[in-house]
Amino acid sequence: MTASQQAESRHLLQVYGQLPLEATSAQGVYLHAGKRRIIDFYGGHAVAALGYAHPALLAALGKQAKTMYFQSNAVALDVRAQAGDALAAFAPAGLDRVFFVNSGAEANENALRVACRATGRSRVLAIEHGFHGRTAAAGAVTWGAAKSWYGFPRTPFDVDFIPRDDTARAREMINSDTAAVIVELVQGLAGAYDLDSAFVLAIVEACRRSGALLIIDEVQSGVGRTGAPFAANLYGITPDMLTTAKALGGGFPCSALLMTEALAGTLKPGDLGTTFGGGPMACALVSTVIEVIRRDQLMDNVRLLSAAIRKSALVGPVEGIQGRGFLLGLRCRRPAKDVQAALLERDVLVGLSSDPGVVRLLPPLTLEKQHVDKLINALSDIGQ
Ligand SMILES: Cc1ncc(COP(=O)(O)O)c(C=O)c1O
Repeated sequence: MTASQQAESRHLLQVYGQLPLEATSAQGVYLHAGKRRIIDFYGGHAVAALGYAHPALLAALGKQAKTMYFQSNAVALDVRAQAGDALAAFAPAGLDRVFFVNSGAEANENALRVACRATGRSRVLAIEHGFHGRTAAAGAVTWGAAKSWYGFPRTPFDVDFIPRDDTARAREMINSDTAAVIVELVQGLAGAYDLDSAFVLAIVEACRRSGALLIIDEVQSGVGRTGAPFAANLYGITPDMLTTAKALGGGFPCSALLMTEALAGTLKPGDLGTTFGGGPMACALVSTVIEVIRRDQLMDNVRLLSAAIRKSALVGPVEGIQGRGFLLGLRCRRPAKDVQAALLERDVLVGLSSDPGVVRLLPPLTLEKQHVDKLINALSDIGQ
């Protein structure tokens, strides 16, 4: 079946709004649609950290597929141990234990379960406008889900939302009833809104004081995207747990829950589980993604080009820029969806966000200056 027939299949559930675009292949930072080459500043929701068809990823995929295509967690694997070591070494100090799963929501689901079990408490706090995934627990802590798509008759625990950047309310709300506070330091879907440092530090302090566990959701912001290994590094904090996914396997589905040694000590065999998580293909790619980010100094590239975008992107419809590294929100004078459509006509793909005025940029970490120039020219060309 061709991509175009598939796109028209009556068998696929129509649950996605889709772009007027049918990609047939992809290479580097480009999507190919027929004769068009489109620069991908969206990266498939922040997944394509090394772009498309990166030689190191292709080599790791081929090698691992020939060596061992799949094996479960019932069997110890060197490739899994190596991925765990690489991720723990890359993560903020103190997050020494790793549990590999498959998606961002699944990593958060497990983090929330661990928090409720370890504290014996049943209230979880999240931040207004945060997004944590579509499963029962992750959706319960996602702002706005209950009113739109959540669907379950009740949440698995009590949930309250702390107003964004309201330090006083954070101090008041986090108390000895709180099992966990889950925080997206740079709120991706909300338009790459980076939380205020004082607010984040107040949450850290209140968690320590009350015994609540701090979960940092870096499903979107993690693995070099902010110009640091994790946004937690930028904020100078070590949470009790950190979740990450998207970029982690460079496009191969995988995610991870990292935690402190102390928290890992509350778990015994049988407490958590997964069939596909920690599979050899995903693990080979996790190690490769981290290795290439380090080897090619991609976090330096992110910082350099993020600064270039900040310096030059206040053109055309853009009146403000927020976010960190390559997780940026361009605040526009006109509806973001119109700006997205106009950029796509000029062969530049950008993302939207839950803020109708913000266009989101999540390009591969391998982006080059020439691609930034193309974005700036396209923005200028579409005018105010
Ligand atoms: C911050 C954050 N957390 C969790 C998720 C859910 O991840 P997944 O779609 O892999 O379940 C997302 C997905 O966009 C996300 O951006």
